[in-house]
Amino acid sequence: MARSAILPVPRSTAAKPSIGESRALWLAAFRRVRAETEARAAHLSAEDQIVQSMEDTSPTKWHRAHVTWFLEQFLLVPNDSSYKIFDERFPFLFNSYYVAAGPRHARPQRGLITRPNGGDVAGYRAHVDAAVERLIANIAAADAERVFAILEIGLHHEQQHQELLFTDILHAFAQNPTDPVYDAAWQMPRATQGPRGFVDVPSGIHAVGHSGDDFCFDNETPRHDELIPSVRIARHLVSNAEWLEFIAAGGYATPSLWLSDGWAAVQAQGWQAPGYWRQKDGSWHAMTLAGLKPVDPAPPVMHISYYEAEAFARFAGKHLPSEAEWEVAARLGLIADAYKLTWQWTRSAYLPYPGYRAAEGALGEYNGKFMVSQMVLRGSSVATPEGHARVSYRNFFYPPARWQFTGLRLAEFV
Ligand SMILES: [Fe+2]
Repeated sequence: MARSAILPVPRSTAAKPSIGESRALWLAAFRRVRAETEARAAHLSAEDQIVQSMEDTSPTKWHRAHVTWFLEQFLLVPNDSSYKIFDERFPFLFNSYYVAAGPRHARPQRGLITRPNGGDVAGYRAHVDAAVERLIANIAAADAERVFAILEIGLHHEQQHQELLFTDILHAFAQNPTDPVYDAAWQMPRATQGPRGFVDVPSGIHAVGHSGDDFCFDNETPRHDELIPSVRIARHLVSNAEWLEFIAAGGYATPSLWLSDGWAAVQAQGWQAPGYWRQKDGSWHAMTLAGLKPVDPAPPVMHISYYEAEAFARFAGKHLPSEAEWEVAARLGLIADAYKLTWQWTRSAYLPYPGYRAAEGALGEYNGKFMVSQMVLRGSSVATPEGHARVSYRNFFYPPARWQFTGLRLAEFV
């Protein structure tokens, strides 16, 4: 089972550290996460870092500044009376959707913010980094647990934006006729080999949701019982080879395979293949972080919408698993490639678990207000930072979205 690894030692298995040990652990975690953001951005020029290719995506420079604002707004301002806001204009520019934290710049216009420039954002990051390090070193022992809990949210938040940094720049590069390369060495991890087919998920009542002392987002709670029907789940993810069969069989031209909204999207968007696939010299190629590459049949299909996943399942005579079925199967180790390749669409709407209530205040806006009209994805992807995912993790996107690293595995009822 993957587990949260912001801290080098899972809390549930570690003896309670001293305040000095806690300071050292959080300082190391903080530096590691902040460095990963910069490492991902380092492949990109200043021009690359200001582009916003659609409303759903954000510029790299904005991601680097927004995660910094999050730490300033929620960690430093409330907990360090000596902290000086780096620039009074920045909260308006780099607040994303926190209404309680004040007014903010329009999301579709993030790409128009050429000033502050990249150097200014680097200065903002350095200013906040130094302040957070001082806070970690100086926080009173009585306040440490509460303050480190906010820091922990800030680090997981930054990891989420690290994944978005990849998905958003890939979308931008895919609009560029020169097929830019983010990193020539980038490769899709290989799918696990071995017998394919389906495996029984034990039917009956199973506990679902986060358990233990390690970090989770509020949307993974409360842990609760779910009734699992007689269902089998695919060991493996659906591959590009299987998707090529779907295309060859006329999957994108057969309205009876599609949800009504899905078929409308196929027609409106002209979908004939997964996102970033295009014909070149008579064969399918896909835009990747390593540039335009021939489609390799073996890896799992990526960049498909919920609508496409659902249509494929219908084409195959199968279903998508529910998120509870997925979680039970993953906890029992029944499925291969649960993590690190592609997020997996489930047939579950993104809804609050029984008894869930979002927290008061601005941080309560983190997840709860998005629990409508979206579908849950489980697992993690090639773009997810190491240590970010866990078995109870709930990702969520709107059904037409396909710029994320999204794929599927099938389920069948028995
Ligand atoms: Fe954010």
